[in-house]
Amino acid sequence: MQIQWYPGHMAKALRQMKEDIGKVDLCIELLDARAPFSTGNPEIRELAARRYRLVLLNKADLAEEAVTEQWIRFFRAQGIRAVALDARSRKGMKELQKAVDEVCEGKYEQDRKRGLMERPVRAMVAGIPNVGKSTLINSLSGKAAAKTGNKPGVTKGNQWIRLNRRLDLLDTPGVLWPRFDSEAVGLRLAWIGAVNDEILPKEELAYRLVRFLLDSGRQAMLEARYETDPSVLSDPSDPNAWIETIAVKRGFLKKGGEADLTRTAARIIEEFRAGTIGRISLETPDETEQEENV
Ligand code: G4P
Repeated sequence: MQIQWYPGHMAKALRQMKEDIGKVDLCIELLDARAPFSTGNPEIRELAARRYRLVLLNKADLAEEAVTEQWIRFFRAQGIRAVALDARSRKGMKELQKAVDEVCEGKYEQDRKRGLMERPVRAMVAGIPNVGKSTLINSLSGKAAAKTGNKPGVTKGNQWIRLNRRLDLLDTPGVLWPRFDSEAVGLRLAWIGAVNDEILPKEELAYRLVRFLLDSGRQAMLEARYETDPSVLSDPSDPNAWIETIAVKRGFLKKGGEADLTRTAARIIEEFRAGTIGRISLETPDETEQEENV
């Protein structure tokens, strides 16, 4: 299943970002902590490489802590500061300011040398749809400055938001890139909700998600969440057996008593996205390192 989604407004937004990158000191790149490789837009990476760069592994509350730590080390090994974050809570914000200060030390130094009063750091907040850009800006600014929504592409940019004397943020819309590198990348982007749901084959997506959970040794999560004893399944290694059982458990049945697989698929994906199935990291640095340099 090859998933691709690159509507015209994203290409346009990216052109705007390319213009704007020259006006900022810092690029704050939001990634989804569950899939820091797949959610890294190569176009944004290229922009970020020209500025001070800070990576935020957002939705860290939905990822496995130990794997997120591996990712932080992975970025550090490349000289990139990465911070794990739950953008909905104010907890990570102090650390964020600290990281901004650290990353921008060179700019402060330069300003001092030039005899300038400390100017605020101007930062572009960039990332693919649904990684939490609006939530982050709202948490930081303490008000509903940016519109949030779980529908990819809702964020409308680009506006400057003055946070405090030390930090100005430039809000940008979520942008993907023209061709996802592999089927796996497309799938992970779809699972986490970065791709317009309307174009996705939900049943196939849920099948692949359950298959991933089974293949990666996470069957126990399905057993617990859906209170299912695998011994009652015709074949516990078959994702369809799980999906059909979940349909029955949830009472998602059509008129004739047949399982409503479309509704069940949608629910499974929804529950994965919300973290209800559990904290799940979709990729580790070891698995993805070979594919491409992050
Ligand atoms: P975007 O601007 O990058 O497109 O993303 P946005 O902030 O709109 O966030 C997309 C969804 O992700 C929102 O859920 C938001 O609450 C959620 N979210 C953002 N950051 C985090 C995080 O660190 N952890 C978790 N668990 N969720 C996060 P929603 O369902 O659309 O909104 P709501 O029901 O939460 O209001």
